Amino acid sequence: MKGRPTILRCLLTFGALVLAGCSGQQSALDPAGDESEAVFRLFVAMVMGGAVIWLGVTALLIHAARVRQTPWTAEKASALIAWGGVAFPIVVLLLLLGYAIWLMPAIRPWTPAEETNGAIAVTGEQFWWRIRYPAGEGRPAFETANEIRLPVGKPATFSLEATDVIHSFWIPPLGGKMDMIPGRTNFLTLTPTRTGVYRAPCAEFCGTSHAYMAFSVVVMEEEAFDAWRSRQIEGHASIANEGRQLVRRHGCLGCHSLRGAQITGGTAPDLTLIGARQSIGAGTLANTVENVARFIRSPSSVKPGVKMPDFDMLPPADITKIAHYLGGLK
Ligand code: CUA
Repeated sequence: MKGRPTILRCLLTFGALVLAGCSGQQSALDPAGDESEAVFRLFVAMVMGGAVIWLGVTALLIHAARVRQTPWTAEKASALIAWGGVAFPIVVLLLLLGYAIWLMPAIRPWTPAEETNGAIAVTGEQFWWRIRYPAGEGRPAFETANEIRLPVGKPATFSLEATDVIHSFWIPPLGGKMDMIPGRTNFLTLTPTRTGVYRAPCAEFCGTSHAYMAFSVVVMEEEAFDAWRSRQIEGHASIANEGRQLVRRHGCLGCHSLRGAQITGGTAPDLTLIGARQSIGAGTLANTVENVARFIRSPSSVKPGVKMPDFDMLPPADITKIAHYLGGLK
């Protein structure tokens, strides 16, 4: 009798662990958007339907093997195969197909032309995300990188492109995937319903650092979002700061841009307000001064295949000053 409570305890622990895996920043099983909610409903319907069918088939098997004493007649066996093996799967698959087609408008809403014009343009690059917010409501367009901020409750349309190879745009808590294909623009509309910070991994193998290519999604109240957007447009006032001088002198702005600075490059991730981002290196490292310094010193050891060269020839004190300066850009 001692065995049963132990088995029960094991099952409960296992169940709790499995359920714990359902929540989190990158879980499609913890929906925070209209589209992911629809996908989640389809998933639950399929799992529950599958469980019921599995139980039915198992019961039939036990009945045939253990309970039934006499064999089936040929006629009855044919009828069982016709109903259970042909008719039943057809009905179940047709029901699932009907349900999926009915859900489609919610999962992939058609994007009207006026919304595609105001879309947030996201470009996949090896191995980071270029993000351009469009001009609107009297405000200019601006660029950022590796972090998307959205106001809660408002549909956001994304136009998705790639410059080099195919990447895939996927914010699991908000909705399904959409490929980013060089030479083509895809559109995707998502409506976040809950504020929070989410993680979005690249979902298509795109090279050596595919696993180090993610972005953060911060869903905010509209007021906070507006303040963030104004701050982005404003950029950083030109102040005499040693870190800033070093960023210029060591040529960082030949590739990176920094709104408010005199020279700005556009081939590498935009650094405006980088100190306020959730992570650095496109979701690779926590955003700390030590990690920024580590990345500057040797990006290739953090992200194999990265296009930024190592800057380990710079004096360590300069790297630290630059890292402090960037960390303070909020
Ligand atoms: Cu980009 Cu995988």
